[in-house]
Amino acid sequence: MKSLRLDFTYGLEAGKILANLIERQDGSTVAALKESIGQAYRTLLDGTGAGNDFLGWVRLPAQIPASELDAMLAKAEDFKKKSQLFVCIGIGGSYLGTRAVTEALKPQLASRMPGCPAIVYAGHQLGQDYMNELLELLDQHDYTLCVISKSGTTTEPAIAFRLLRNHLEKKYGKEEARQRIVAITDRAKGALRTLATEEGYTTYMVPDNIGGRYSVLSPVGLFPLAVAGIDIKALVAGAAQMQERLIADQLDWTGNIAAQYALFRQIQYAAYGKKVELLVNFESRFYYLSEWWKQLYGESEGKQGKGLFPSNAGFTTDLHSLGQYIQDGERLFFESVLSLEKQNTRIVIPQDARNLDGMNFVAGKEMAYVNQKAEEGTLMAHSEQGNVPVLRICVPELNALHIGELIYFFEFACGLSGYSMNVNPFDQPGVEAYKQNMFRLLGK
Ligand code: PA5
Repeated sequence: MKSLRLDFTYGLEAGKILANLIERQDGSTVAALKESIGQAYRTLLDGTGAGNDFLGWVRLPAQIPASELDAMLAKAEDFKKKSQLFVCIGIGGSYLGTRAVTEALKPQLASRMPGCPAIVYAGHQLGQDYMNELLELLDQHDYTLCVISKSGTTTEPAIAFRLLRNHLEKKYGKEEARQRIVAITDRAKGALRTLATEEGYTTYMVPDNIGGRYSVLSPVGLFPLAVAGIDIKALVAGAAQMQERLIADQLDWTGNIAAQYALFRQIQYAAYGKKVELLVNFESRFYYLSEWWKQLYGESEGKQGKGLFPSNAGFTTDLHSLGQYIQDGERLFFESVLSLEKQNTRIVIPQDARNLDGMNFVAGKEMAYVNQKAEEGTLMAHSEQGNVPVLRICVPELNALHIGELIYFFEFACGLSGYSMNVNPFDQPGVEAYKQNMFRLLGK
């Protein structure tokens, strides 16, 4: 059975050191980093570190009862029958996971999976024109909605839900509107919980011990993904498979790819002084996974004046914009490449008798073959000529199972990496500053 794997071929010196360390105990700074990841592994699994009341995600995938998934799938079926559009309201960790998985797995040019409503987002920003356009769209289509907020008090989704609830009630009447709303929030506290209880909405719970950016495998992601037509059982199975692979009594450096990734990042940051990690893809389907990853790593590690800045690039598109800087600019980053090993479809480039575009040298080849050679050529250019360390995260094929693996892999590595830097990877004190100013300016 194929699974995610890491490829350090392009990793230059740090990659080679890492590859050696997995076999032998030597080196100085790197050995100390390896030791700190080992300690982080114990801290994470024993639940003895900062933020240990937010470790519910660690053993979640293998614990989700099939009956819980079945109940969500049944409600999702009801929503699918009722709606052409499904509005998903939430921000940050309450929205990015759903968008990441949906965009990775749905057809790219169609707005929806066959037979499912198209998913549209709200409450992820405060743009007024966007909201007006959305309300106009919803005038013309049947829709259902799901509002997700763990705290139940976040400004952006609260305003969006207020506007959309009014629209829904006007369009369908209060009773039918009630049947078209699902609220996903805290078990007991928060304004959304109070409202949902009073109005009698169907609700799902965000577990107390899971923070927003680690919550995609809870109802926060699973219910909207089910409505969007994603195979949530396969997603959870993939994550559970990765959980089994990564959690053991002893850290196994040869097989634990999350520990290897966490160590590679820390080698780049602490030993080589890199400031930025670029998550790169050669498939536009991975764009929102990179957005989800940016939040996961940015909010988890960027504190106390520390942390790699998580950024992303989509190739070959960005080779025609950022490519110059990556090749020749300041050497402040390394690249982690999401590399897809097998395509779901085929397309062959045709021969052309006149060959005016000069492309006959690739006639008879699949586009994916050209993309693969672009990837190899780019990684060689960046690592060998550009001195950019490169790690490949190889995804065997694009399906819900492997995306589930990828999500859990990134979450686990993030916990390890954060603890190894002595930060709490499960809080986000820095996001309060803008809110306090905004509330003061708004006269709250
Ligand atoms: O990861 C996090 O904790 C944040 O991004 C939250 O998910 C985000 O701020 C939304 O919070 P809430 O679900 O409480 O509305």
